Amino acid sequence: MKVKIGIIGAKFAGDFHAQSWRGVPEAILYAIADIDSEARKFFASVHKIEKTYNDYKKLLEDPEIDLVDICLPNFLHAEVAIAAMKAGKNVICEKPFATTLEDGERIVAVQKETGQKYFYAEDWIFAPSLVRVKNLLEEGAIGKVLYLKGKEVHNGSHSPFAQKIKFCGGGSVIHLAVHPIGFFHHLLGMPVSVTGRCSGGGEKNMVHKKMEGEDWGFGILSYADGTEVTVEGNYVTRGGMDDVVEIYGTDGRLTADMTFGNPLKVFSMKGYGYAIEKAEFTQGWTYPAVDEHQALGYKDELKHFKDCVTGEAKQIRGTSAEDGLNILKIIDAIYRSNSTGKRIDL
Ligand SMILES: NC(=O)c1ccc[n+]([C@@H]2O[C@H](COP(=O)([O-])OP(=O)(O)OC[C@H]3O[C@@H](n4cnc5c(N)ncnc54)[C@H](O)[C@@H]3O)[C@@H](O)[C@H]2O)c1
Repeated sequence: MKVKIGIIGAKFAGDFHAQSWRGVPEAILYAIADIDSEARKFFASVHKIEKTYNDYKKLLEDPEIDLVDICLPNFLHAEVAIAAMKAGKNVICEKPFATTLEDGERIVAVQKETGQKYFYAEDWIFAPSLVRVKNLLEEGAIGKVLYLKGKEVHNGSHSPFAQKIKFCGGGSVIHLAVHPIGFFHHLLGMPVSVTGRCSGGGEKNMVHKKMEGEDWGFGILSYADGTEVTVEGNYVTRGGMDDVVEIYGTDGRLTADMTFGNPLKVFSMKGYGYAIEKAEFTQGWTYPAVDEHQALGYKDELKHFKDCVTGEAKQIRGTSAEDGLNILKIIDAIYRSNSTGKRIDL
């Protein structure tokens, strides 16, 4: 069954969603909305999209659209997801779920009220290496899991919205650590307590003094059965985006290196177009991503959401509106722990 998709947000995330949608059978990229006319026109021509809208509300009125894919700055996630569900659309929304718990609770309430499908887009759940990790854990390959560690780190967001807390909800924890938090929540559910430590924002940051949110953040998530989890998100890492999961068990351990764990190495005197997200240059020895959208999970993620809309799949744990809210509660607890100096019980 064909599903017509309307993307809202025509820049970075919108582009990699559009590229990933191309590989999903029976998904039709039908419309794009963005207030930036240049970005909108460029996006429509590159991705050969029929309908363009300067106002997302007009896209939501289009009866042809089955599934709205929100690739907007964080502060608009709640407003647009709520408006889309009220307009009778199914919704995919990029991370984070929302910028405040109040907004997150409103999304959950409207989803229940309208009965529309809501998909929280945590791509790590679908990354092939992490799908294999989950299978190995289920098979008992490393025994009883004791300690899990995950990080996403790079040298700073390209988006101007990432500089202000009111636009993004925080700094590197809500932007980057949100991924390992989402993945571990998918594996283990909710922790019982959370401890957090972050750089202080602004002048108190390690590197990004003009950014209001933290540029380094760390959380310890403790589970009822004694399992411990650490998560990290930082903007102080040079050399390209580094996404790693390590898991230690009674009978073994494993490491999944999602961004640099590829078989390709290049030495180039002149450099070339693109190596990997946030890599500063491409001269000398580099490790270009082989199929970044596949490795990070976007292709399988969007296919799964489309299959859920057509009834061909059952929505996977970790992607519902409630899951999005739980993940936001963990992030909020890291921030509260950092500001109070206390462990937060959930
Ligand atoms: N899953 C991931 O790893 C990943 C990676 C990057 C970004 N993201 C998420 O994707 C979202 C978008 O990020 P980005 O990097 O593409 O941001 P961006 O700032 O590069 O682009 C946002 C786009 O939204 C448009 N926009 C702003 N207000 C609008 C409005 N009212 N109506 C219509 N369009 C509007 C802007 O004009 C811009 O084109 C963010 O929430 C981010 O967290 C996720």
